[in-house]
Amino acid sequence: MSFIDIQSLRLGYGGMDDTQLVLDGIDLKVEEGDFAAIVGPSGCGKSTFMKLLSGLLIPQEGSVMLDGEPVNGPRAQVGMAFQNAIMLPWRTTLENVLLPLEVAPATKKDFRKRRAQYRRRGEELLAAVGLKGMGDKYPWQLSGGMRQRASLCRALIHEPKLLLLDEPFGALDAFTREELWNVLQALWQQQKFTVVLVTHDLTEAVYLSNTVYVMSARPGKIIVKRDIDFERPRTLDSRYQPEFVSAVHELREHIRSARAEDGSSSIGSLQEASS
Ligand SMILES: Nc1ncnc2c1ncn2[C@@H]1O[C@H](COP(=O)(O)OP(=O)(O)OP(=O)(O)O)[C@@H](O)[C@H]1O
Ligand SMILES: [Mg+2]
Repeated sequence: MSFIDIQSLRLGYGGMDDTQLVLDGIDLKVEEGDFAAIVGPSGCGKSTFMKLLSGLLIPQEGSVMLDGEPVNGPRAQVGMAFQNAIMLPWRTTLENVLLPLEVAPATKKDFRKRRAQYRRRGEELLAAVGLKGMGDKYPWQLSGGMRQRASLCRALIHEPKLLLLDEPFGALDAFTREELWNVLQALWQQQKFTVVLVTHDLTEAVYLSNTVYVMSARPGKIIVKRDIDFERPRTLDSRYQPEFVSAVHELREHIRSARAEDGSSSIGSLQEASS
């Protein structure tokens, strides 16, 4: 069995009729240590899918297995970071990063005793994402990009086996986003956790992942699996290589046709028609 093993997954909000169905028959396998990206039209169910993987939602049909066990609630093995990192304003950045250790059942018992060790781990992570010495600042003293870096640290502080990222860099300017791609790539190469990344940015998906999955419009299904085997570490210049450009182009065409098939997306079709 694969590390992530999803079979015949179906989910609707409230019920399973046409208006409620969001995911309709997802099959997906991700091996341990792999990096998967999921792309698809807005509203196709990507965030819903991530909630299923993190155990925040349970599907009506099908199964979600993680590391050999069914997912039926939040798991300590999982770390999450989403767009617009929310941090507690009355805690310093380092205290925000350490929060998962303070509340998770496995670590909260010994938190006080191991505090010094945990702080060191937090500071090392902050340094790895370019926030060396910033742990004492409050989140409101950080820029958006810095907060997003800190939220990556918070997602990784308990050394999860699986990192779930839902548009983690979507709100950042292009240069900061590109820097964080390299930060994430380096952390992943060192620590070898498994990653599932949801993104609207096809270049980001190709740059970071080993496999890109394209979802159809709602109700979401996986319609394309595209392996990306460019050598690592990938560099920002590699984005201009013909193989890279053609992978992005190919994915773009898949999304374009997925959106065109979605009759409800009239504004989307207008935009596609004029581009
Ligand atoms: N809690 C909820 N209750 C009812 N419907 C919901 C709920 N959450 C999401 N939906 C609906 O399910 C569909 C999929 O939403 P989801 O957030 O998973 O899409 P998405 O692919 O992440 O979109 P985006 O790319 O815009 O982030 C949407 O039509 C949305 O309105
Ligand atoms: Mg979403």
